Amino acid sequence: MAIKIPKLTDSMRDEFRGKLLRELVSDEFLEMARENTLPWRELMSYYHCAMMEVETKFRVLNEQFSLQYDRNPIESIKTRLKSMESIVGKMRSKNLPLTLSALEENIFDVAGIRIICSFPEDIYLLADCLLKQDDITLIERKDYIQNPKASGYRSLHLIVDVPIFLENEKRLVKVEVQLRTIAMDFWASLEHKLRYKKDIPEEIADELAAEMYDCAEISAELDRRMEAVRNRIEQETMKGEGEWEKQ
Ligand code: GTP
Ligand code: MG
Repeated sequence: MAIKIPKLTDSMRDEFRGKLLRELVSDEFLEMARENTLPWRELMSYYHCAMMEVETKFRVLNEQFSLQYDRNPIESIKTRLKSMESIVGKMRSKNLPLTLSALEENIFDVAGIRIICSFPEDIYLLADCLLKQDDITLIERKDYIQNPKASGYRSLHLIVDVPIFLENEKRLVKVEVQLRTIAMDFWASLEHKLRYKKDIPEEIADELAAEMYDCAEISAELDRRMEAVRNRIEQETMKGEGEWEKQ
């Protein structure tokens, strides 16, 4: 009896492809992991520690601003360690050998921290405060607020080296810091969804991408206007305080 093969829809085919890719990546990764379990876990824990160091630095700055100026420049902080699969995927797409030293030397966003602020000015203030610290070394700075991406994406990206102090040694570890406003973050998360939805027909995806570009412009304008209002409020408050002192 002939075997009946069901007709595959596009989404079934994509799902199958995804599963197959995950299998291949996992197998390859498992081999690397088997040989390197302990060094791999060690390296990942260094990234984790470095991420915690940078997070603490930002929390300290937020606390200090809140005491000194009665304002919290940071709305929220998100941290993430890149998964094994996306590390392996990125190394393969860059044609790198699957070794821990190639990973350390070439992939700078294993440890990621996202700082969400209310106002664009606070982004630059916090970035400057971080980079002034004498244990932080700037490796790369990309200002997608001054120079937004073609998609409309805005954020300030920094790659920094931060020391972590272990039992008998000090290690420099790279951390990617993304600083953005609440509005930029809101935009980026929706645009990310659009980018990774593969079953949207091309012309609709193009239309939505154009719409998202417009939204990014409107959102940037909103950030500027709200910041101007915040600054006016502060100016007026200072004037008020001056008048109070004169009385
Ligand atoms: P890789 O670091 O190798 O991925 O490339 P790159 O250094 O050119 O990337 P870049 O530093 O410009 O951006 C890295 C991260 O920024 C991504 O992982 C996203 O989190 C974010 N990002 C960059 N561009 C976009 C965009 O157009 N849309 C969204 N939603 N996020 C973006
Ligand atoms: Mg990058």
